[in-house]
Amino acid sequence: MSDTDKIYIFDTTLRDGEQSAGIGFTIDEKVEVARQLARLNVDIIEAGFPATSPGDREAIARICKEVRGPVIAGLARAVASDIDTAWEALRGAETPRIHIFISASEIQMAQQLRKNREDVIEMARAAVARAKKYVGDVEFSPMDATRSDPEFIYQICQAAIEEGATTINIPDTVGYAIPRDFEEFIRNVRNNVPDIDKARISVHCHNDLGMSTANSLAGALGGARQIEGTMNGIGERAGNAPLEEIIMAIKTRPDFLHLHTDVNTRELYAVSKLVERVSGLALQSHKAVTGKNAFRHSSGIHQDGVLKMRETYEIMNPADIGIPAGSSIVLTKVSGSHGLRSRLGDLGVHPTDEEFARIYDAFKDVADAKDEVDDRDLMAILGEQTQIKVEDAWTLDLVQVSGGDHSAPTASVRLVDAKGDSHMDAAIGTGPVDAIYKAINRVTGADNTLTEFSVKSVTEGIDAQGEVTIRIEANGTTFQGRAADPDILVAAARAYLHALNRSIATPASAVPEPLTTGRN
Ligand code: KIV
Ligand code: ZN
Repeated sequence: MSDTDKIYIFDTTLRDGEQSAGIGFTIDEKVEVARQLARLNVDIIEAGFPATSPGDREAIARICKEVRGPVIAGLARAVASDIDTAWEALRGAETPRIHIFISASEIQMAQQLRKNREDVIEMARAAVARAKKYVGDVEFSPMDATRSDPEFIYQICQAAIEEGATTINIPDTVGYAIPRDFEEFIRNVRNNVPDIDKARISVHCHNDLGMSTANSLAGALGGARQIEGTMNGIGERAGNAPLEEIIMAIKTRPDFLHLHTDVNTRELYAVSKLVERVSGLALQSHKAVTGKNAFRHSSGIHQDGVLKMRETYEIMNPADIGIPAGSSIVLTKVSGSHGLRSRLGDLGVHPTDEEFARIYDAFKDVADAKDEVDDRDLMAILGEQTQIKVEDAWTLDLVQVSGGDHSAPTASVRLVDAKGDSHMDAAIGTGPVDAIYKAINRVTGADNTLTEFSVKSVTEGIDAQGEVTIRIEANGTTFQGRAADPDILVAAARAYLHALNRSIATPASAVPEPLTTGRN
């Protein structure tokens, strides 16, 4: 690798990724994702935005304590209190970084910040200087850089470096850039910021025009040596640059890019699946690198070629991404715990004995209803079991539904509360799911709004499990629930209870405060 340059991989799944509409990770989920990102060997994990909520601060502090290896970054506006709060959350990290941002485009400075250029440069200087009192590693981002006056970007970046910023990140905040233009923009930053050699240039691209991967790589060709993105590309609006694509492009095309990363690419599939599970944002089948069809061949000509030599139609080896090859271990109702543990290991899942016992019980239930339990069934089981850890205010003991085209849909439910007492009630609804949810609300006294309900088949076939994902809104926050069962009405009831339990377990204080970029 002597003629390739290292690209530092900065993962912001837990910060910008969590800004995706309708998702919110629990603290345990954040720690689990951070651990898996450390296994992937990314260079920097942006663990959150400490000023937004006590829940975010707690998650960051736990990640700092429990996750070793990558630099742990926390985001802060160019505001003294944000920087102090970020440091409080980050101080337990092996290698902490404070990441400061401020709007730099005319539209954002005038309309949102209501500050002029001089004020903004002064705020940036003061913020970087304040962060430097706490930590040597400070990143600075002029937000909306690609819609800003380039001369102003050079000036503000130079000011940040003079105060000690060690990374200068150029965000394409609204996904406006075009690859050739963006490469030129980064080259110009390199050539026009006098002290740029004292800092590493980074790029941070959003996907509004579907060009975030291309723009990130173009940025690297222009001289950036850090790339920011999220797993599966989750994030605000159309999302952030998907790191799995960037990492595999760098690995696949060193002949053109002359770059490398230190990422252990064999962990990519496991992280992607974990993020899919905890975010509830399903990957499209044809998603590059990690989608279900990314290495499946359907046409006869392609199948013939791949059977003769894999490389005829595959530019990457699925093993390099950690995609499990068809295993010789088939999981059925007669399978034992060793077989199950081995398949889980292939998926990058290493449960404790207690977690494994729960997963094994759930596996047996599914195996009773199906001939064969495949990886997709296992992912559905895992999705549910990881939620159970944090949610136990109410559990489902029984659900019974009657309906048809000549009777009103009616549901009875029996729930068990945290003390172990049973409660039963029934309700009529506009459909069977509505009837179930109304019956549950009667028992629990819940007050929320169902904002999303989707059901999909986990695998093919008449005996497939149905996976239900729902979102509810309570106290101004969205909570997600997910469950899989061969009976979709049972899955619907359990998914609703998961979301409900989450809302009960989340204190109002953990709900993020609305932030503006202009507060001082
Ligand atoms: O998109 C953006 O500009 C950001 C900054 C906070 C870096 O996420
Ligand atoms: Zn962003």
